[in-house]
Amino acid sequence: MTLSKNILVIGGAGYIGSHTVLALRNAGYTTVVYDNFSSGHRDACFGDHLVEGDLADTARLTDTLRAHDIGCVVHFAALIEAGQSVVTPLPFFENNVAGTLSLLTAMNAAGVPRLVFSSTAAVYGNNTDAPLLHEALPSAPVNPYGHSKAMVETVLETCVAAHGLQAIALRYFNASGADPEGRTGERHSPETHLIPLVIEAARGVRDSIKIYGTDYPTPDGTCIRDYIHVCDLASGHVAAVAHLLARDTAGLTPINLGTGAGQSVRQVIEAVARISGRQFSVIEDTRRAGDPATLVADASRARTLLGWQATHSDLDSIVADAWAYAEKTF
Ligand SMILES: NC(=O)c1ccc[n+]([C@@H]2O[C@H](COP(=O)([O-])OP(=O)(O)OC[C@H]3O[C@@H](n4cnc5c(N)ncnc54)[C@H](O)[C@@H]3O)[C@@H](O)[C@H]2O)c1
Repeated sequence: MTLSKNILVIGGAGYIGSHTVLALRNAGYTTVVYDNFSSGHRDACFGDHLVEGDLADTARLTDTLRAHDIGCVVHFAALIEAGQSVVTPLPFFENNVAGTLSLLTAMNAAGVPRLVFSSTAAVYGNNTDAPLLHEALPSAPVNPYGHSKAMVETVLETCVAAHGLQAIALRYFNASGADPEGRTGERHSPETHLIPLVIEAARGVRDSIKIYGTDYPTPDGTCIRDYIHVCDLASGHVAAVAHLLARDTAGLTPINLGTGAGQSVRQVIEAVARISGRQFSVIEDTRRAGDPATLVADASRARTLLGWQATHSDLDSIVADAWAYAEKTF
């Protein structure tokens, strides 16, 4: 049986979704973007088709799956701000968990069992003693956002046996960078991610950048994270879709998308200063609650199962692409 190469990309007008739509089209897939534009951008919609709709609208999702003969769903749609989720957790569970239940109901009704789900390194939460975070570690989220993603992974697991779901949960580390051709990039509002915030400081959009904690047990005392270029994330999704379409096996496979190497906050700040040629104020502050010293992926499963590895994720390429996008866009 040849499966349809029509891919439904939910949240395809957002940061990672828009890059993935470009990569899927480049790989020969037909894409249908489904988005409610709560945080996505109309000018970042590159799908062959666009359906404006909400994840909660099960009937509309079912109609869309049927009308476009969808072979696989890629699901990015979520509220993503971990800090905000502590203040107002309910919308996070409503959108991220209940929204995904609506999608799974629609997929059952339309007979589409293949799903690539946007999960996150935040599901590892408290597993901070492991030098590299491996998919076999137990989930231990520390905020409602991370819980919402871990809960969805649990729901997906139950749908494997009950409904024959064929799913991959891609656990992204720190998404960063922008399309090297400048067609799309990171435009979150409010922005909470380190690289765009440092770029704002370098461009004079903000007064300074703060380093939260300089006494961590790391070589330069600042936190280390695994930055992954958004184009590498996009190619990881193309590989995951191809993997699912080539098989007919029920299961949920969590797969890290990271580089396996970390960069410190100071290294990021230095890279932005070097690449932009700008000077800006850096303020050293105390640690923030809940920030582990180091979060770096064990990236071996993606290599083994998907034949994928990061190829654009050296820090200078990430910063150069993010800088060029910010200069062109803001
Ligand atoms: N950005 C990161 O560093 C990062 C890291 C780990 C995981 N993730 C996950 O990746 C996914 C995408 O993140 P992003 O940074 O591209 O976020 P984003 O906010 O740029 O994109 C999310 C998209 O989903 C859409 N959306 C949200 N709720 C919807 C709903 N109810 N119905 C229809 N559309 C809806 C938004 O309009 C937007 O286009 C999220 O699931 C996020 O949790 C992101």
